[in-house]
Amino acid sequence: MDNLNKLFEETLRDVYYAEKAILKNLPKMAKKASSDKLRSAFEEHIDQTEEQVGRLEQIFESIGKSARGKRCPAIDGLAEEASEIMQEAENETVRDAGMLAAAQAVEHYEIARYGTLAAWADKLGMKDAVRLLETTLEEEKETDMKLSDLALSEINIEADAGGAAGKSSRSASRNDAARASERRT
Ligand SMILES: [Fe+2]
Repeated sequence: MDNLNKLFEETLRDVYYAEKAILKNLPKMAKKASSDKLRSAFEEHIDQTEEQVGRLEQIFESIGKSARGKRCPAIDGLAEEASEIMQEAENETVRDAGMLAAAQAVEHYEIARYGTLAAWADKLGMKDAVRLLETTLEEEKETDMKLSDLALSEINIEADAGGAAGKSSRSASRNDAARASERRT
């Protein structure tokens, strides 16, 4: 990689891989969600992610490259964390809070990547790519805000109440899990 064009291409492949991974993981998270609102937020984001994949494919086409992903260890790590949370949470409200926080970590990764790609596309004079990347960037920001609102208005409150109601010695760690997700929100 010795120029910005190449770096742009490689990063485009990174985010393409990430979007495909997200498409695989979102249905699993939607299935595990106990809150109807959280489930529909995940389901809505599946449709959005499909459109985002389509936009990336348009950019690949515009630069004459085949749409091909490049393994992204960052997104694999975030997905692994999400599945750990799904397995380890001992009640469904805490699981919801953990999954929501995991989804936000993914959104933040995507916001970082799309912001960078849009800036590079602008530098490289790729007007159409800038427009497509910024459209996705705005969607990711909106999704992140929606998740924050849902966490603060419902999910964290329910997770905290669920933990406080528990009489077992695990109730303290349930509260910790809920508070940890609040900090990340
Ligand atoms: Fe995305």
